Amino acid sequence: MAESMQGLKRTHRCTEVSEANVGQLVTVMGWVQKSRNKGGIIFTDLRDRSGLLQIIFEQGEGDEFIGAQEFEKAEKLRSEFVIAVVGKVVKRGGAANENLKTGTIEIRANSLRILSEAATPPFPIEADSKTKEELRLKHRYLDLRRPDIQNNLILRSKVVNGIRNFLADEGFLEIETPILMKSTPEGARDYLVPSRVHPGNFYALPQSPQLFKQLLMCSGYDRYYQVAKCFRDEDLRADRQPEFTQIDMELSFVDVEDVLDVNERLLQKVFKESIGVDVALPLPRITWQDAMDRFGSDKPDMRFGMELVNVSELVKDCGFGVFTGALANGGSVRGLNAKGQAQMPRKKIDALVEFAKGYGAKGLAYLSVQEDGTYKSSFSKFMSEEELAALVAAMDGEKGDLLFFAADSNKVVWDVLGALRLELAKQMDIIPEDEFNFLWVTEFPLLEWDEEEKRFVAVHHPFTMPMDEDLPLLETDPGKVRAKAYDIVLNGTELGGGSVRIHQSDIQEKMFTMLGFTQEQAQSQFGFLLDAFKYGVPPHAGLAYGLDRMIMLMVKAESIRDVMAFPKVKDASCLMSEAPNVVDPKQLEELCISINIPAKEEE
Ligand code: AMO
Ligand code: AMP
Repeated sequence: MAESMQGLKRTHRCTEVSEANVGQLVTVMGWVQKSRNKGGIIFTDLRDRSGLLQIIFEQGEGDEFIGAQEFEKAEKLRSEFVIAVVGKVVKRGGAANENLKTGTIEIRANSLRILSEAATPPFPIEADSKTKEELRLKHRYLDLRRPDIQNNLILRSKVVNGIRNFLADEGFLEIETPILMKSTPEGARDYLVPSRVHPGNFYALPQSPQLFKQLLMCSGYDRYYQVAKCFRDEDLRADRQPEFTQIDMELSFVDVEDVLDVNERLLQKVFKESIGVDVALPLPRITWQDAMDRFGSDKPDMRFGMELVNVSELVKDCGFGVFTGALANGGSVRGLNAKGQAQMPRKKIDALVEFAKGYGAKGLAYLSVQEDGTYKSSFSKFMSEEELAALVAAMDGEKGDLLFFAADSNKVVWDVLGALRLELAKQMDIIPEDEFNFLWVTEFPLLEWDEEEKRFVAVHHPFTMPMDEDLPLLETDPGKVRAKAYDIVLNGTELGGGSVRIHQSDIQEKMFTMLGFTQEQAQSQFGFLLDAFKYGVPPHAGLAYGLDRMIMLMVKAESIRDVMAFPKVKDASCLMSEAPNVVDPKQLEELCISINIPAKEEE
């Protein structure tokens, strides 16, 4: 039968016991990792969140031994039993275990309590688990006992703590904003919550605290932050969850530089304190336009080169219709040089062409420079020797190199080559894994043309301030307007983003007009913010980090699920609790909701 604490107090976590404690009596508590009975002497590895500690149970008299009755108890120990042990710290009898922090000592137990017995777990509790993730997530409470996940969550707590301390020192106030709020479009699909009191009406869960943090600036709180749960009903990927955490902040009386400055110092402090990484300041910056031109991505991984080259000018009069056709349609032709890859087998090249098509390419032209100086190419028959030589020279092509070209609209060319660049770098194994390469991407476009809706949409959100010098373009050439928006990128992942906000009602009105909102629509969706702005609003700006992504990058986790306690899987369900589920018809009745699931279409 399980025993209880009965006044027993833990004196140390497992790995807090060290050689400094030799000769002392300690009380430790935790889970049995494993227990081996060597006949008359039992070796038990005790585990808690700090690590492992070896316990020895040997029957006998004195404070290094255990009584006969308790020894019998020790014989029953199985993996995952929860126990409390009082014992004497001694130097290890056998060889030291170099893999353990406590490898030079052991505890010789003189009393044992079994606080809880345990059924055999469905998979072993160990680091680097080989168990399928599905099974682990179904029993997440067991999976969470594994030391690698525990270390991730311990680090996560440390990081949040470091951020809180830093921001408090910088004069930020931590203020909570509502979870039940009004649905306002901000990119992704909302999660809705029906109102019982107002049948037919719905709350939305926040995609971010954006509007509320701007209101707090209107109300004079000056510097706000929040560790904010956000909800977005979008397709999940390895670095996306429907429910995730932002470190969200907003500052008054500032411009771009102020936000970048405080955040650079925050990143430097947090990365040093939590994982010992030195971040050199100031962080490099690149404009959105340069990022796209050079890397085909607004979140370029700068740990390696392989930059895109625009060869449009060079091929504009060549005989290759694919190239000239794209240019005639207002697009471009750009290339990548995969250094030393000339011998890539045809099959692998074909696979890359298919890969490119997955990103919207109609094809992918290639040319290799052989050791004898000749070219092998999918398009050489359309070009003269001189044209080909000029193209190779522009690409910095040398013997042994393999060049790829994409011709299409700028957007497609960037998407294709940006993705191809990453894929090639992976295949060529040229990404330095240990680097932490931070980058600010600035001067994002303010608006983006939406072909489906035949109107401009905000790239960041409708409250983002245009760059001062681009304000006149708002009416004449809106697609060219750059925004005071910035993203912080780490190793090719978007870690966070933000912007300076519009605080002048005339600019905001122009912006809404641009986005195709009528005054009534703007008022009905954002009226409370627009009204608040009428009563005195300071210039303000902010930024939000994806906390989960930050931790993921710090520990180099492959999935965002490894840094969250209770994540959801691809179809947004929780395998452990089985959310979402059907609810009692009475609950639906109270909410005046009837369910109408369309029959699945025959495939
Ligand atoms: P944004 O939409 O860029 O900006 O979000 C900020 C950061 O949140 C993280 N993130 C996510 N992490 C995990 N799962 C998701 N589904 C997910 N979606 C976003 C990313 C991203 O960089 N209100 C603005 C910020 C501002 O302007 O101040 C905002 O939400 O790391
Ligand atoms: P084709 O004349 O269609 O056989 O194409 C010749 C080469 O050009 C092939 O290697 C195609 O993959 C490539 N190609 C086709 N369309 C494009 C494009 N839009 N951009 C780059 N290469 C292309």
